[in-house]
Amino acid sequence: MTAAIVGWGHTPFGKFDKETVESLIVRATNEALAHAGIGAADVDEIVLGHFNAGFSKQDFTAALVLQASPDLRFKPATRVENACATGSAAVHQGIRAIESKRARTVLVVGVEQMTTTPGPEIGTNLLRASYLAEESGVQGGFAGLFGQIATAYFEKYGDQSDALALIAAKNHANGVANPYAQMRKDLGFDFCRTVSDKNPLVAGPLRRTDCSPVSDGAAAVVLMDIPSAMSMRRAVMFRSTAHVQDYLPMSRRDILRFEGCSRAWAQALGDAKLTLDDLSFVETHDCFTMAELLEYEAMGLAPEGQGARAIEEGWTRMDGKLPVNPSGGLKAKGHPVGATGVSMHAMTAMQLTGELPEAMRVRDATIGGIFNMGGAAVANYVSVLERIR
Ligand code: COA
Repeated sequence: MTAAIVGWGHTPFGKFDKETVESLIVRATNEALAHAGIGAADVDEIVLGHFNAGFSKQDFTAALVLQASPDLRFKPATRVENACATGSAAVHQGIRAIESKRARTVLVVGVEQMTTTPGPEIGTNLLRASYLAEESGVQGGFAGLFGQIATAYFEKYGDQSDALALIAAKNHANGVANPYAQMRKDLGFDFCRTVSDKNPLVAGPLRRTDCSPVSDGAAAVVLMDIPSAMSMRRAVMFRSTAHVQDYLPMSRRDILRFEGCSRAWAQALGDAKLTLDDLSFVETHDCFTMAELLEYEAMGLAPEGQGARAIEEGWTRMDGKLPVNPSGGLKAKGHPVGATGVSMHAMTAMQLTGELPEAMRVRDATIGGIFNMGGAAVANYVSVLERIR
């Protein structure tokens, strides 16, 4: 591959009513440039990931990145969108600019502000990433869609409520050490497992702890071509990337098989000449615990219908054979839609360079995998990263 991450910026994720989309973008941008050790004038191109879909009145946000520095004025800046995979779409777009040799240095920013939107509108906005012609009547926003998927999975393979609670408890435990995470509390298996006033059912069998929270935040990464990256403070190279887009209507797919996810992993691992066993850890898209379980199957960690084994047998815990979501995942870290994919790349780079708190570290991490998804396995992005400097 031709690109590497040489620096990053990350606001905390959470509920920040004093921030705006603009202020979040500016913070992440300036942090990323400083971390990379470059000036704004060195940037050749800017890509912004921002889903929006009604969350912010201000649309047309690509030029807001220029607010971070007068030296960004007149640079090409474009906003990209691919639902909850918007952040990875922006990163992969940035890599293409480098591959085409139109840019040597690309600034990629991802942002979302969701919590200032009133409750019922949040679900409506998120459902814009579903196939409205057939799925607009689903109650409970995106949780409603994943509640349907969980119900269908339980009908076919048996009740997996405990496995989902184990996934939630793992990710909450991992998130405690993450300084950027929205929820830094070890909720524990019993709390996640038990339906209660503090952990009510949200949709189908999914409890509140089976859902990612509603979040604000931004993340940014600086990408560079490999020769330039080799003279920087650090360089985390893309061994491979893959993007697979599937049909939007759930009715056109077997929704219990995340085929786009499987294909993206197979393509990315094949291009990198690696197998899953070569990965030190994975950051995967746990918008709902049910998604993480299906992704275990799609990435090839467990056969279809047996995803629960990956968590029950401890494979995906911090000390397991393939730690999944050492950052706490979307579940604990938060899921500001447009920022999530960029955050996953920043977190993976932090892990590979060791620039993160000791308690978050995966031992001897050399290669990290990322899966970021838009919709229910509609937009599927995999990146495989390795530190080269
Ligand atoms: N997981 C665990 N705890 C959560 C939580 C979550 N997802 N969301 C909120 N909480 C906690 C809050 O911290 C708060 O705790 P406290 O009482 O100790 O302060 C409590 O639950 C109530 O918070 P509130 O914001 O009122 O919860 P809510 O019931 O309005 O919202 C969800 C909970 C799950 C409905 C909401 O987080 C949601 O819609 N998530 C899904 C977002 C989504 O679909 N994203 C796109 C995915 S594709």
